[in-house]
Amino acid sequence: DSVDLGPYQHYMQKEIFEQPRAIGDTLANIAGFGPELFHADPEEWKKFEQILILACGTSYYSACVAKYWIEDLAGIPTQVEIASEYRYRTTVPNPKTLVVVVSQSGETADTLAALRHAQSLGHQFTLAVCNVASSAMVRETKWQFLTKAGAEIGVASTKAFTTQLVALYLLAVSLAKRAGKISPEKEKQLLAELRHLPKALHAVLALEPQIIAWSAAFSQCENALFLGRGMHYPIALEGALKLKEISYIHAEAYPAGELKHGPLALVTDKMPVVTVAPKDELLEKLKSNMQEVKARGGKLYVFADQDTEITSSEGIQVIRLPEHYGNLSPILHVVPLQLLAYHTACALGTDVDKPRNLAKSVTVE
Ligand code: G6P
Repeated sequence: DSVDLGPYQHYMQKEIFEQPRAIGDTLANIAGFGPELFHADPEEWKKFEQILILACGTSYYSACVAKYWIEDLAGIPTQVEIASEYRYRTTVPNPKTLVVVVSQSGETADTLAALRHAQSLGHQFTLAVCNVASSAMVRETKWQFLTKAGAEIGVASTKAFTTQLVALYLLAVSLAKRAGKISPEKEKQLLAELRHLPKALHAVLALEPQIIAWSAAFSQCENALFLGRGMHYPIALEGALKLKEISYIHAEAYPAGELKHGPLALVTDKMPVVTVAPKDELLEKLKSNMQEVKARGGKLYVFADQDTEITSSEGIQVIRLPEHYGNLSPILHVVPLQLLAYHTACALGTDVDKPRNLAKSVTVE
């Protein structure tokens, strides 16, 4: 990717629209799942029995999605920690752990220090999921997976995030295969689903005009609440982070089941509530959470998918993603949230690519 903006207004917009290419490149040459994807020794690959993922910022949220995937698909206990916390707290290390660092830059000071801290505690199985081949984390880990997002210039991470999700999904399925849970037919089917991602992303990006229409309302708000459940809770967190970072609107994300334990007190007709609502086993529960918001006059902005039976009505606006994506759904559902933050920031006239007080890569503590 050149530094040329082409038809785009900002690098962030360009990078959002590059996601089909970035994910296609990240998946290129992948013909199956297993240790080879991570440059791991097949014998050593059998030796760990739990996972610890360390990351900061947006990369931390991709790690949070990975926890749902790995525990669900592979049945391996998985813990995710903010790197700046892990590096300074007392933990109980189990040497049979795969320690994964997730980082766009591979240079974030806290994540690098957390990796070194894990190594000092005796952890020898280490994997970097990283976008920069020459980075410190890639050099200092035993195994690596390089995402192919290309240079990311906008401070708010977009294509690095979705390619990290792809890498972590590959890890989850590879671990499921290790556990004997993936038949050759299933492997073929999962590969086909992954290969469909670029096309599916193009169709989601085509929703941009509808999202621009919503952004006008968001630019008038001082606060916003994001709700999700299950593996879409971290997607709600990422959506709220994007809005905070570039539009400076205060945004918070909650797992929708927690609404009644606090944030419901904040809901008024001035509070937009963004809901990530693909059709999954928690949708019925999510719908009753949405009723609680509606009953208090909250304005719901729902990102549904093809199979979600929710339609726009008084107090509820729906944008429908064109398909139902199963386990890959977080990779698709984050895209409209990126666009919503982007267009809200544009409406407010902020410096989208270089938001105040933030840096692309935080290489000092
Ligand atoms: C900074 C950037 C974020 C990024 C985080 C972690 O805060 O502004 O966009 O998610 O660092 O960066 P990393 O390079 O480790 O993914």
